[in-house]
Amino acid sequence: MDSLVVRPSGPLSGTVRVSGAKNSALKLLAATVLAQGDFVLHNVPRIADVEVMCDLLVSMGIDTRRSGTDLSVHCGSDIVPEAPYELVERMRASIVVLGPLLARFGRARVSMPGGDNFGTRPIDMHLLGLEKMGASFDVHHGYIEASCDRLLGTRVVLEFPSHTATDNLLMAAVLAKGTTIVENAAREPEVADLAAMLNRMGARVSGAGTSTIEVEGVDELTAVEHTTIPDRIEAATWVAAVGIAGGEVTIEAARPDHMDMVIQKMGVMGVRVSPSRSGLWASCSGRLQSTDVATLPYPGIATDYKPLLVTMLAMAEGVGIVTENVFRDNRFAYVAELMRMGADIRTEGHHAVVRGVPRLSGARVKAHDLRAGVALALAGLVAEGETEVQDASHIDRGYDDFAGKLRGLGAEVERRR
Ligand code: EPU
Repeated sequence: MDSLVVRPSGPLSGTVRVSGAKNSALKLLAATVLAQGDFVLHNVPRIADVEVMCDLLVSMGIDTRRSGTDLSVHCGSDIVPEAPYELVERMRASIVVLGPLLARFGRARVSMPGGDNFGTRPIDMHLLGLEKMGASFDVHHGYIEASCDRLLGTRVVLEFPSHTATDNLLMAAVLAKGTTIVENAAREPEVADLAAMLNRMGARVSGAGTSTIEVEGVDELTAVEHTTIPDRIEAATWVAAVGIAGGEVTIEAARPDHMDMVIQKMGVMGVRVSPSRSGLWASCSGRLQSTDVATLPYPGIATDYKPLLVTMLAMAEGVGIVTENVFRDNRFAYVAELMRMGADIRTEGHHAVVRGVPRLSGARVKAHDLRAGVALALAGLVAEGETEVQDASHIDRGYDDFAGKLRGLGAEVERRR
């Protein structure tokens, strides 16, 4: 397993360019199942999760070809509507092919996702919504066997604004007969990006990006070209890096309008952030100040920002209370690793009390998931001595050249095999 080795190297400076959003690109790729023809997706990040999604499309009989950050996808008329265990096990987001496969082919066989580092993570909302649209499901030997006649438009009220359940229902509804209304829908910018591509394909979606999405089903969609929005989590990672190491950085292609709450929160902690012509500008000097943090669905503070914020709090002045409201089971696994670096954190259920310490010390730590891996690497920017983040392959799942970009800002970071 690869490691990332980070040593303190002083304040950061320079320019970094944000790649396309992982959580958009994966759904845009799933949406290619909905129409026959040639798609071109631009600004697709070169990350492992996108490779898994491409492998999944290929296993179904769909061609994909990459050239830089462009991905060409050719979807034919005859595909195998199946997502095998080997791929779903590598990436649970593979579940987003269920809705589009049912919508176009009336059947799908998708491996049931298992548990992961965030806890049990059920998919009941996906299945309930699709069932309401007329699909039926059986689970056999670990696989969801789904079938339907043409899906029917209906009103679905989600119990929680689940991001991928909203994606799945949206991609199912575009080819359904009649109008589907999804209430308490996820409002993430990536949902709006997916809807933008679907509309370009000929779908009739309105309200994506708000909590009520209305979809008037159409008979057929066509293949299109589309550009993925920039990754707001990656952009926030660079703001956090400046908060932790100090310095002044331009973050090209960042979309501040997708990042209001996190910019506000990091601002309260002492990072100066302002929109610039090319994206964002961030600077920080002096010690960060503690604050309380509660994660919420968009437009609240995303759960994916939390490891970054906890790392900032770990070295800030004062005490911050962090509450996880999205993945309540377990999204504090990385805290024990930060404590190995000298952080003073106590967790109790879905809360963490973070008492800032004046300095962290480098240690060998483990990345349990991609956001945690990145947060530990950023802690290494200021921890005395060497920090070795093991299982760095987690970082490759969601960041296109993380180490190279960090080095470009003056950090001392290298990959060790
Ligand atoms: N939930 C259910 N039933 C469902 C679906 C979700 O109970 O049928 C619960 C989950 O267990 C969780 C909450 O609802 O407690 C929210 O989960 P959500 O469904 O919104 O998460 P997701 O769609 O599986 C996406 C992102 C995650 C991100 C979350 C929250 C993708 C591929 N993944 O996951 O991103 O953390 O939304 O914003 O879009 C990451 O990028 O590293 C990542 C994990």
